[in-house]
Amino acid sequence: MQVIVLGAAAGGGFPQWNCNCPNCFHARQGSSDHQPRTQSSIALSVDGKRWLLCNASPDIRAQLNTTPELWPNELRGSGIRGVLLVDAQIDHVTGLLSLREGCPLDVWCTPNVHNDLSTGFPLFPMLEYWGGLCWQPVGLEDHQDVVEFSIPFLPDIALTAFALHSNAPPYSPRRGATSCGDNLGLYIVDRRSGKSLCYAPGLGNPTPLAMRFLHAADVVMVDGTLWEDDEMQALGVGTSTGHQMGHLALNGNGGMCELLSDLPSSTRRILIHINNTNPILDRTSEAAKTLQDAGIETAYDGMQLTL
Ligand code: MLT
Ligand code: MN
Ligand code: ZN
Repeated sequence: MQVIVLGAAAGGGFPQWNCNCPNCFHARQGSSDHQPRTQSSIALSVDGKRWLLCNASPDIRAQLNTTPELWPNELRGSGIRGVLLVDAQIDHVTGLLSLREGCPLDVWCTPNVHNDLSTGFPLFPMLEYWGGLCWQPVGLEDHQDVVEFSIPFLPDIALTAFALHSNAPPYSPRRGATSCGDNLGLYIVDRRSGKSLCYAPGLGNPTPLAMRFLHAADVVMVDGTLWEDDEMQALGVGTSTGHQMGHLALNGNGGMCELLSDLPSSTRRILIHINNTNPILDRTSEAAKTLQDAGIETAYDGMQLTL
């Protein structure tokens, strides 16, 4: 399977339009140590022609323009055959509005996400005027925290969605009281190569279930939102902690870096969904050096993997 990182940043992107934190300031000045990144999304394909987007970011138009694999080959068209949503957050779903000219469009998501996108952020009813989004249910619900499924245009790919304990969006009735299906992680196996990818940009809590899939994968692409849980407060740019937003910080006891150090030594470890305040976005920082010493990579826009 082929994987293209379309966007490696968390909500707001890097630099964020209204932020002048040190990272955003330097990125805006064109510093070569602060590479800009768009909001979180990856694309998957088996044949290099038909693609699944995992998340549709508000930056999708720019992402598609810089990704020849996803350009139309006919008068009107696209390699994008469908979109899978890991949650109903703005940074992962707003790009569906920009894909309206391609409706009807298949969208895989859980009942909770479908519900939020039919009410609090009603993309499903809105886009009916353009031909609609065809909901393909991923049945993560109470008492069902793992679901295996396949996607017709991804032959030989076995997909498993597993529940993540994170948070629902602010416009969800389940904000602060999430239930199974608000956030998912994906375990993706290519049956031809036997290789697997675990994609979990919203891994807020290292549950045994999530850790099982991280341990099984050849490549993990996981939540790199914040370096410290209170980083946004410390910089004076926000009031929420990572924990409140449903993200596990990288540094410290029980942090993401420590979890990643427990994986088999052959596992390729990649961070994605990185917030603009995170010091790892400054290549010269101590945090970036710590990652490098630990063999942990930081995803960037345009990064490609073959598995
Ligand atoms: C999140 O991942 O917590 C959200 O995307 C934050 C946001 O975009 O407001
Ligand atoms: Mn997000
Ligand atoms: Zn910033």
